[in-house]
Amino acid sequence: MGTVSFLSEAKAVPGKGTVLVTGGAGFIGANFVLDWLALGLGTIVNLDKLTYAGNLDNLAAASGDPRHIFVEGDINDAGLVAKLFAEHRPCAIVNFAAESHVDRSIHGPGDFITTNIVGTYRLLESARAYAQTLAPSEHDAFRFLHVSTDEAFGSLDGDAPPFTETSRYLPNSPYSASKAAADHLVRAWHHTYGLPVIVTNCSNNYGPYQFPEKLIPLMIHHALAGKPLPLYGDGRQRRDWLYVSDHCAAIRVILERGRVGETYNIGGRNEQANVDVVHALCDILDAERPCAAGRSYRQQIAFVGDRPGHDRRYAMDASKLEAELGWQPAETFESGLRKTVRWYLDNAKWVERVASGSYRDWMQQNYSNR
Ligand code: NAD
Ligand code: DAU
Repeated sequence: MGTVSFLSEAKAVPGKGTVLVTGGAGFIGANFVLDWLALGLGTIVNLDKLTYAGNLDNLAAASGDPRHIFVEGDINDAGLVAKLFAEHRPCAIVNFAAESHVDRSIHGPGDFITTNIVGTYRLLESARAYAQTLAPSEHDAFRFLHVSTDEAFGSLDGDAPPFTETSRYLPNSPYSASKAAADHLVRAWHHTYGLPVIVTNCSNNYGPYQFPEKLIPLMIHHALAGKPLPLYGDGRQRRDWLYVSDHCAAIRVILERGRVGETYNIGGRNEQANVDVVHALCDILDAERPCAAGRSYRQQIAFVGDRPGHDRRYAMDASKLEAELGWQPAETFESGLRKTVRWYLDNAKWVERVASGSYRDWMQQNYSNR
């Protein structure tokens, strides 16, 4: 299979490099859309259901940009997805849309099955129907890029080497099981129907626009609000942290030059225990926004009951991506964490609107093409 040319085509021939992104109003999707537009890579059709995690505030910088076409809708709506394929004739689809929070999946797994599994199945079927309408060269260049997670591999023992692309799938939470199921469907649609798919499995992301239910933004928000910083269990669980724009850059290079039918692990080679992440956040906040009377934010740390079935450790071996496609993360954990804290400090209004729920009004006021 030759390399894809649509990124360069998109630059050379305006309108030719249209990409359909799903879930582009969420954390990673919005960063991907904004980076794509900033790099001048072409038009994005952004399909998002605007669940609690979808926030058009995240896309304010793209408001009024004719290269960003936002469509409110569900990936399960086969009629709508077929219409978007027919109207815009994208050269790729990047599927970010998902229910993404492990704790929510424990309390209510239903939406995870509906969106992550059934929704991916419906998208695959819509993409397959569309791909059949393409000329052979367009079909070969078309990509269905499915964004998945390291959690599909389960939990690593303390001294085990990081997950590779051939590690066994052993998901443990309703969230990771739903993502694993979707990954299997994507693989099967390639193997059986020849759909040109690629799956990416990435480690924990952090950065701007992350919903403050996830560890890093939650801790920043609670610290500034004077609330307890709740660490589950002993706080020694380990995650492999990657700055979000490095994930987006990896997806771009995989879209451009990744091999069809392959999976690529993405990770920052940056394993940290949760308690160390929270200590680092407190130390940055102590310097940037000191508390009264020399108190440290560390004093707000509270160890609470553990997450049921809590995975102890994730770590990704990204050497295939590094060796084949030359990708390297641009941020270290130190630089990325500092940028992230500054972003949350500079964007207190964004956090406030998310916390109060008022971000949901933004749509009515600012987007007419819903
Ligand atoms: P997020 O929860 O911030 O955003 C998800 C987006 O999908 C939201 O905008 C939401 O409105 C939209 N959505 C949900 N259901 C939908 C549906 N049925 N139809 C259309 N849109 C729908 O999630 P995120 O953290 O940005 O993650 C994006 C993707 O990356 C997910 O597939 C997730 O599994 C994967 N991933 C996330 C991480 C991470 O650390 N956050 C790491 C690896 C992989
Ligand atoms: O590994 C990739 C995955 O990372 C993504 O696929 C998921 O979409 C994303 O949500 C994330 O899952 P985690 O469960 O690892 O992320 P979360 O931010 O929820 O938790 C990170 C770690 O911090 C985890 O060990 C649980 C712990 N934690 C989390 C919260 C919210 C706490 O100790 N306290 C908390 O309040």
